[in-house]
Amino acid sequence: MNAKTGKNDPAEAFTLTDNRSGKQYHLPVISGTMGPDVIDVRKLYAETGCFTFDPGYTSTGSCESKITFIDGERGILLYRGYPIDVLAEQSDFTEVCYLLLYGDLPSPQQKKKFEYGITYHTMLHEQLIYFFRGFRRDSHPMAVMCGVVGALSAFYHDSTDITDPKHRMIASYRLVAKMPTIAAMAYKYTIGQPFMYPRNDLKFSENLLYMMFGNPCEEYRVNPVLSKALDRILILHADHEQNASTSTVRLAGSSGANPFACIAAGIASLWGPAHGGANEAVLNMLTEIGDKKNIPDFIARAKDKNDSFRLMGFGHRVYKNFDPRAKVLEKTCHEVLDELGIEDEPLLDIAVELERIALEDEYFVSKKLYPNVDFYSGIIFKAMGIPTSLFTVLFAVARTVGWVAQWNEMIEDPSQRIGRPRQLFMGEPERKYTPLHKRK
Ligand code: CMC
Repeated sequence: MNAKTGKNDPAEAFTLTDNRSGKQYHLPVISGTMGPDVIDVRKLYAETGCFTFDPGYTSTGSCESKITFIDGERGILLYRGYPIDVLAEQSDFTEVCYLLLYGDLPSPQQKKKFEYGITYHTMLHEQLIYFFRGFRRDSHPMAVMCGVVGALSAFYHDSTDITDPKHRMIASYRLVAKMPTIAAMAYKYTIGQPFMYPRNDLKFSENLLYMMFGNPCEEYRVNPVLSKALDRILILHADHEQNASTSTVRLAGSSGANPFACIAAGIASLWGPAHGGANEAVLNMLTEIGDKKNIPDFIARAKDKNDSFRLMGFGHRVYKNFDPRAKVLEKTCHEVLDELGIEDEPLLDIAVELERIALEDEYFVSKKLYPNVDFYSGIIFKAMGIPTSLFTVLFAVARTVGWVAQWNEMIEDPSQRIGRPRQLFMGEPERKYTPLHKRK
C-alpha cells in the first residue's frame, strides 16, 4: 500500500525469490512523506514460513510516526517538520513540548495555557519524599530516577487508564512537569541538601536550575545565559525518532502498561553508555585522557579491534554526517564558557584537539564517525557546574516529552499490537531428560 496514494501499486512491489523452491513473493512497498521507502513484511511469515533476521534493528522500521524525522546522510533533524537548529535558536523548551505532543506550534493563548498546565503539575506528592529516603546517599541519580519515576504509578492512579485520552494527557503533563523536580531531588539527596520545591514564577529551565542549585538560606538568581543554554540543550534532546529508549517505551507500552512504568523503562534504557549515558562517559573519558599529549594513545585504542574502548561522543547509528545537534551545541558551548569567563578549560582543549584529530583520521573518516550530541553537552554541563552523574538525568528530563509523545501516538494508532519479535533459535533441539541419579 502506498501511503500517499492509498493504493496497492504492483509496480512498487518488491519481489523476493526463494531459490530453494523457485517461488516468488511480492512484498508491498510503502512510501512515507519523506525518507526511504519500507518493504512491508507483515505477511512474510504467513506466506513464506520465514522470519526476517535483524539484530539491532538496523534495517527495520518498527512503527509509523509523524513526530520526528531524521536524514542521517544529510545531517537533518526535524520535529514535526521544523528544523532543530531553528527551534533551538527561536523557540523555547515548553513550546517544543507542545509541538511534540500536539503536532503544531501553539498560538500565544495555547502556549500560555500549556505553560500553566505544566507549571501547576511540577510538585510531587509529599509522600514521595519518603521514597527518596529509602535510597543510599551515594546512589547514582539515574538509579533514583528509575525507581521514583516507576513509583509515580503508585501515586497518580487517576491518570493510568490508557484508554482515556484525558488520562493520557494528564499523565503526559505530569511526567514532563515532575521530571525536573525528581531530577533535582535526586541530586539534592545525594549531596545531603534540602529538597527545593518548584517555583511557579520561573520558566521550565530556570526552575530546574533553581531546584538544583538553590538553597533555602539565600536567594538564588538565575543566570539568563545559563538558563538559555540549558533550555537549548533540552530542546535538542527532546525527541529522536525510534532510538533505544523510545523503542523501549513503545515496547513496554504495547502491552498496555501504564505511562509511568513505561517511562521508567525508557530511563533504564537511556542510562547505558551507548545511548544517553554517553554524555557522562565523554567527561570521564576526557578526564582519563588528562592531557593533549595522551590523545594519540586513546585514538589508537579506539581503533584497536582487540580493545573494547570506544571514543565516547563519536559515532551514531543514524547520522553518517555531522550530528546537527552537535553543531548547535558547539556554538552554545562557547557562549557558556564566555559568560562564565572560562578561558582555559583543559577538558575543552582536550575535546577540541580530540575532535580535530578524529575528524582527520582515516579510521573515523571512513566509518563516518562524527562527534554526536553527547560530545558537547557534557562539556557545557561541566562548565555550568552540573555534576557528571547528573548529565544523563538531564537527558532524561528532556527526552520525557519525546517518550510521552511517541507513547501517545502508539496508543492512538489503530494498527497497534503488542510488540513481540521472534528469534533465530540456535540452542539444543528437543532432547530426553535424564534423571539426576543417572547423570555422570
Ligand atoms: N569509537 C571507535 N570506533 C567506533 C565508534 C567509536 N565511538 N563507534 C563506532 N565505531 C566503529 C565500530 O567498531 C564498528 O567498526 P567495524 O565496522 O570495523 O566493526 C563501526 O564503527 C560501526 O559501529 P557499530 O557499533 O556497528 O555502530 P552502531 O550503529 O551499532 O553504534 C553507537 C552506534 C552510537 C552505539 C556507537 O557509535 C558508539 O558506541 N559510540 C560511542 C557512544 C556514544 O557516543 N553514544 C551516543 C550516541 S548519540 C546520543 C544517543 O543516542 O543517546
